[in-house]
Amino acid sequence: MSITAAIIGQGYVGLPLATRAAEVGITVVGFDIHPGLVDQLNSGKSHIDDVSDDELAAALAAGYRATSDAGDLATADVVVVCVPTPLAEEGGPDLSAVQAAARTLGEHLSEGTTVILESTTYPGTTEEVFAPLVLGDRLTLDENVWIAFSPERVDPGNPTYGIRNTPKVVGGLTPESTRRAVEFYEQFIDTVVEVKGAKEAEMAKLLENTFRHVNIALVNEMVRFCEELDIDLWDSIDAASTKPFGFMPFRPGPGVGGHCIPVDPSYLSHRVKAKLGYAFRMVELAEEVNLAAPTYVAERVWRQLNDQGKAAKGAKVLLVGVTYKPNIADMRETPAEPLAEKLLSWGVDVSYFDPYVPTWEAGGVTMTSATDVEKSASEADLVVLLQQHSTIDLDRVVAEAPAVLDTRGVLNPGDKVVRL
Ligand SMILES: NC(=O)c1ccc[n+]([C@@H]2O[C@H](COP(=O)([O-])OP(=O)(O)OC[C@H]3O[C@@H](n4cnc5c(N)ncnc54)[C@H](O)[C@@H]3O)[C@@H](O)[C@H]2O)c1
Repeated sequence: MSITAAIIGQGYVGLPLATRAAEVGITVVGFDIHPGLVDQLNSGKSHIDDVSDDELAAALAAGYRATSDAGDLATADVVVVCVPTPLAEEGGPDLSAVQAAARTLGEHLSEGTTVILESTTYPGTTEEVFAPLVLGDRLTLDENVWIAFSPERVDPGNPTYGIRNTPKVVGGLTPESTRRAVEFYEQFIDTVVEVKGAKEAEMAKLLENTFRHVNIALVNEMVRFCEELDIDLWDSIDAASTKPFGFMPFRPGPGVGGHCIPVDPSYLSHRVKAKLGYAFRMVELAEEVNLAAPTYVAERVWRQLNDQGKAAKGAKVLLVGVTYKPNIADMRETPAEPLAEKLLSWGVDVSYFDPYVPTWEAGGVTMTSATDVEKSASEADLVVLLQQHSTIDLDRVVAEAPAVLDTRGVLNPGDKVVRL
């Protein structure tokens, strides 16, 4: 049976999903409200690291096309919504894109369509916020439309796990909604996991992200007192990792970045507070610890310069790797930014090297990436390794640098190299 799928939102999540579905012969319409992006995608130029121009060309040849015409949604048998769910100014959920997409669907959807929300959000959103706008007065759940939630688990830049081999959790508002959504994903995803309902699927995603957030905060807090107690926490983590059961290693770093870890747990704590009136203390504490991590790195920079008999003011500090994770160009919520801001506020002469980020604005200063990292390292007073992109020859950077602060624990500590 040939089906047409419409994917709403052609970003980090929607575009890889669209190209994968096109690969197995599904006719895919990629809907986005960003007209410049639609033209760019139709001309074969991808804006997402995980989708190469060649993969996009193959999808276009297989029938994929991008559109900003909501009328095209009427042709879809299945619609998947992958729009952003950021935080609002006051820190709570901003569901405006989800609501806008739902209203658009309410106007244009044909009877007989299965609608799946993938945007990360608090439990209850699909039922309480999304479905009423999709259904309106025109459509009836389980009669002429079916609605499910399936959390997106994409890990940008992960060379091992992509859309196809990352199990997909699916929970519908009704058993038939679940069944239809499972049937759709089974066409192009190896393992589809059916859960009790949409709320359980929504919560599964937030549990995954909160688990990471809390465990990263645990080691980010421990690294501070371990340093003062003269204990090499990195060594202890390696030792604990030899336990074949009951332990999973998390390592300290300059802070958390990306969309999932810093943002999603706030959706959950906000929901708990709004609905039940009490705090989700684990998340609030993890937020406090992880948000303080860049400031802690700045303090360590200050101390390392001090040990060299140098003032922070006027010192040359080279930041190496400013994205939020290695080997991708993603800058969202990168902890490099609050770190640079803090250093600049102290009068530090900050520069950076990142092959993925040609220019960068931090603390009101626009900077251009150094081109020769070894030369720049030799001219700096201190090099701070924030992100170990695999294309950077770190041994050579260390050889040239007078001193290095390694926030990732990937260099051998020694005379020059100090670990966080
Ligand atoms: N990026 C990740 O690593 C990741 C991982 C897991 C889950 N998620 C979740 O997936 C969702 C989407 O995130 P993303 O990273 O793909 O966002 P993104 O910003 O990369 O892309 C979203 C796209 O949606 C478009 N858009 C916004 N409002 C729209 C509307 N009303 N109609 C149509 N298009 C609209 C935007 O123009 C943009 O192109 C979020 O809820 C996010 O939390 C993201």
